[in-house]
Amino acid sequence: MSNVTVIGAGYVGLTTAACLAHLGHKVVCCDIDPNRISMLEQGKIPIVEDGLEELVLSGIGSGQLSFVLGARHAASGSEVVFLCVPTPQRQDGSADMSYIVEAVNEIAENLDPGTVVVNKSTVPVGSTTVVESTLNRPDVLVVSNPEFLREGSAVHDFLHPERIVIGSDDQGAAIRVATLYSKINAPLVTTDPSSAETIKYASNAFLATKISFINAVANLCEAVGADVRDVILGMGYDSRIGFEFLKPGPGWGGSCFPKDTRALINIAEDGGYDFKLLKGVLSANDEQKEIVTSKIIELFSSDESASGHVAVLGLTFKANTDDLRESPAVGIVTKLLEAQIRVIAYDPTVLPTSIDRFDGKSDLAYDKSASSNANDMSSAFRLEQSRTEKIQELIDKGLEIASDPYAACDGSRVLAILTEWDQFKWLDYGKIADSMTKRAIFDGRNLLEPSQLRRLGFTYRGIGR
Ligand code: UDX
Ligand code: UDX
Repeated sequence: MSNVTVIGAGYVGLTTAACLAHLGHKVVCCDIDPNRISMLEQGKIPIVEDGLEELVLSGIGSGQLSFVLGARHAASGSEVVFLCVPTPQRQDGSADMSYIVEAVNEIAENLDPGTVVVNKSTVPVGSTTVVESTLNRPDVLVVSNPEFLREGSAVHDFLHPERIVIGSDDQGAAIRVATLYSKINAPLVTTDPSSAETIKYASNAFLATKISFINAVANLCEAVGADVRDVILGMGYDSRIGFEFLKPGPGWGGSCFPKDTRALINIAEDGGYDFKLLKGVLSANDEQKEIVTSKIIELFSSDESASGHVAVLGLTFKANTDDLRESPAVGIVTKLLEAQIRVIAYDPTVLPTSIDRFDGKSDLAYDKSASSNANDMSSAFRLEQSRTEKIQELIDKGLEIASDPYAACDGSRVLAILTEWDQFKWLDYGKIADSMTKRAIFDGRNLLEPSQLRRLGFTYRGIGR
C-alpha cells in the first residue's frame, strides 16, 4: 500500500482520494479552499456524488484519508502525488494550465526523490513535459493517468473502470501507478504520455459527437415522421454502435465535453490540422439548444390568450449531480428569460434556500479571464463562487425558483423537462394538468409516455418522436 497525496478536492480529486483510501492506500487530500477543507475534515461532502460520503467517512474513520489546506507540505513523504486541479477554458478555447503550474510550483521543493507525480486533470497534449520542466526535478517522474469519471457515478466509475490508461516514458513509474489500482479488475493501457493525453480528449470528443449525431437523427425523425426511440433500438443492437450515449436531449454540457471538445480543436489547430468534424459537432450542439428553446417558445406562443409562465423541471447539466457548469438547461432558461417569458424552475439541487446553502459550501470555480502567465499567477487565482453566482445571475434575470415541482407547474402554460431526474417520471401529471392554465408539455429528455399525457389532455412534444 502506498502513501498518496491528491491535490484538488473537487469532483475528480475528492473521488480519487476517497477511492484510493478505500483501496487501502494512505491518502492526504489537499485543496486551496479553507471552507472546503474544514467541511471535509468534519466528514461533510461539498458536492453531490453517489456513494462518496460513505467512502469519505470510512476513510476518515480508519485513518486512511485525511484533509489538509494547501499542497506545499502535503506532498512530502508521499510516493505518488495526483494533480486534480482544474484546467478551465481560456477565452480562445484552449486549456488554462495555470492551476496545474501553480500546484506544481508549490510542491516542487518538498517532493521526496523518486516520487511519481501523476497528471489526472485533463491537460493539453504535451503537458507531461510542461509539468516535468516546471518541477525541474530530474529525480521525480511524471506520468499521465487520465480520469474517465462521470459526475453522479464517479465512485462507481473509479472502482469499476472499463480501462485504466497510463502514459509514461518510464516503465518503472508506470508500474508504480498501475500498482495503486492492483485491486481493480480492468484492462490496462500503457502508452507514452502524449497518447494517454490524446486518449482522454478523443474519448470525450467522440462521446460528444455520438450525442450530437443522435440529436441530429432525432431532428431528422421529426422531419420524416419517425420515432427516434425505435431508431435507437434498431441501431443499438448492432454491437458496433451500442446503446450508450445515444439518448437525444437538449444538447450536451457539463465541465468536460464542451471544454475538452473546444480544447481538442485548438490542439489540432496548433498541430496544423483543421478538425472540421469537431467544429461541426460543436455548432450542432449550439443549434440543439436553439431548437429546444424554439420548441418551448412555440408551445408557449400557440395560445396567446392563455395566461401563465413556463415551468422548467431540471437545471443541472444532467441528473444526479448538482453541477450547473455549461448546463444546456441554464442556457435555455436564459434564452427564455431574454425573450421576456416568465420562468419558474424546480431542480432538486437548486432549492430556494440554495443561495445560503451554497454560500456555506463555498463552491468555487475559476476566473476564466485569469492569465496563465506565471508572473501574473496571483491574479490567476482569483476564484469566484460560480454555482452561487450562476444561480444568482439567473435570479437577477428574473428566474423564480420553486421548492417543489408542483409549485413550479402551478399556473403555468407550458411545462418543460430539461434534466432527466428520475423523480420527474413519477410525478402526478393529472394533478399537474389540473394546476396549469393550458396543458402543454415539452419533454426534452423523452422521459415520459406521450400516450398517457395525451390522455390527460396534454399537447406533448418530445425529442425526435
Ligand atoms: C477538474 C477539471 O475540470 C478537469 O478537467 C480535470 O480533469 C480535473 O480537475 P473537477 O474535479 O471537476 O475537475 O474540478 P473542481 O470540482 O472545480 O475541483 C477542483 C478543486 O481543486 C477545487 O476544490 C479547488 O479549490 C481546488 N484547487 C484549485 C486547488 O486545490 N489548487 C489549485 O491550485 C486550484
Ligand atoms: C464526461 C465523461 O463521460 C467522462 O468519462 C469524463 O471523464 C468526464 O466527462 P460527465 O461530464 O460527468 O462525464 O457527464 P456525461 O454523463 O458524460 O454527460 C455529458 C453530457 O452529455 C450531459 O449534458 C448529458 O446530459 C449529455 N448526454 C449524455 C446526452 O445528452 N445523451 C446521452 O446519451 C448521454
